[in-house]
Amino acid sequence: MTEQLTVIVLAAGGGTRMKSKTPKVLHAIGGRSMIGHVLHAVGTLEPARLVTVVGHQRELVGPHIARLAPEAVVAVQEEQLGTGHAVRVALEALTEAGQRPTAGTVLVAYGDTPLLQGATLRDFVDAHAAAGAAVSILSGIVEQPTGYGRIVRDADGAVTSIVEEKDATDEQRAISEINSGILAVDAAFLGECVTRFTDDNAGGEYYLTDAVGIARGDGLLVAAHPVADALQTEGANDRAQLAELGAEMNRRILTAHMRAGVTVLDPATTWIDADVTLASDVTILPGTQLLGTTVVAEDAVIGPDTTLADCEIGAGARVVRTHGQLSVIGAGASVGPFAHLRPGTRLGVGGKIGGFVETKNSEIGDGAKVPHLSYVGDAEIGEGANIGAGTIFANYDGVEKHRTTVGRHAKTGSNNTFVAPVAIGDGAGTGGGTVVREDVPPGALAVSSGPQRNIEGWAQRKRPDTAQGRAAAAASDPDLAAGE
Ligand code: UD1
Ligand code: MG
Repeated sequence: MTEQLTVIVLAAGGGTRMKSKTPKVLHAIGGRSMIGHVLHAVGTLEPARLVTVVGHQRELVGPHIARLAPEAVVAVQEEQLGTGHAVRVALEALTEAGQRPTAGTVLVAYGDTPLLQGATLRDFVDAHAAAGAAVSILSGIVEQPTGYGRIVRDADGAVTSIVEEKDATDEQRAISEINSGILAVDAAFLGECVTRFTDDNAGGEYYLTDAVGIARGDGLLVAAHPVADALQTEGANDRAQLAELGAEMNRRILTAHMRAGVTVLDPATTWIDADVTLASDVTILPGTQLLGTTVVAEDAVIGPDTTLADCEIGAGARVVRTHGQLSVIGAGASVGPFAHLRPGTRLGVGGKIGGFVETKNSEIGDGAKVPHLSYVGDAEIGEGANIGAGTIFANYDGVEKHRTTVGRHAKTGSNNTFVAPVAIGDGAGTGGGTVVREDVPPGALAVSSGPQRNIEGWAQRKRPDTAQGRAAAAASDPDLAAGE
């Protein structure tokens, strides 16, 4: 834990340009909310105190933060009177929580910068401490500085102030070094500084950036450290920017996996969330999305055209054109093409879920196979069992769900229906078209359809003037067939 570090994350703003009923910082990219990415980055610093400032839609933002960072103090800023006011509210909330920092560093970050990395913050906080500055700015050199506060330096290059766009002169607007918004401030200085902000500016707001001018006026040192990777401090204000940052995040995630030994055939059509874990020598084929906390073990091949959310895929498994959620696939198992794995599916080592098979809340044992066109719901299938093509596990009686068990090495026929609750014993079998309503003892063969009865000459008699009738007649009279 960094004893002397306090982190303030500002997230009270409205985010009107999102044009959304979802608060801006809760919009997700890479499988986390934007503020989730920021909390993750600051979390790696293990700050002694963390406070987040919420305002707009705090009934949604507050609980989300409490879930992700239960240790955080959540400060409410009723009216958004500016970043300086927000920081003052944050310090007041810390006071109330008995956590007000009197020494060390206060790091201020925004909740809408999803590409931000902990290492960048760590280097910045270290540089701030090493310089002995009262205020340090994580700045950026950008081609389009419009909208940002500009870093004003004197002839010696020392930072004298931050001037907001609205308050800047034409000359200042030409400055390309901008305030990313991330500041590190000496805690003792900040505590006193927040009481000195005024809203006497073009924005009519209490600017946190005025801390720079105040520090300089007090004869204290101010430093600015340009960030090498400016995208890390970029915020998403509308959905177009959200998509751009999302694509950039995906590129970064894919690059990291590829450098770690994962083959990604087509990065342009592959999407991998931030919390996905891939072992080396995994291969991802085009059109694949790996979402949530999906974990893939080595040598597995996923795709093409597969979406897996919160799944666990074993070593060497093969998952083709599949949609899966909250499912576990064993090592060396095979899934798809066109499989639908619904929550609670567990396929054993070397097992198979084949084409056009839907599974839900079912355990399919080691080496067991459901190869074709089936629905498997609320079932337990023993190791080495084989389920015939076109089998329906009828788990729902219209009111309640029931379970089916199929024993070890059982072999069931095609086009069966298992009417749950029902049990098929170890080594048992069923005939084609069987509707299993009663338990089948181990080793027994269950047959439910009656013996077949053929009514001879039916087509010739009943449909004489049709192609069917003529074909039937021809089949029974070789002369007729020759004359046709
Ligand atoms: C701010 C900086 C500017 C910097 C820019 C970087 C100030 C005065 N200006 O400007 O120098 O270049 O960010 O993006 O600090 N917020 C609150 N409560 C408030 C106001 C804002 O929590 O009362 C939060 C917002 O939710 C947002 C962040 O603070 O996350 C920044 O606010 P915003 O209004 O976007 O500031 P800018 O005008 O962009
Ligand atoms: Mg802004």
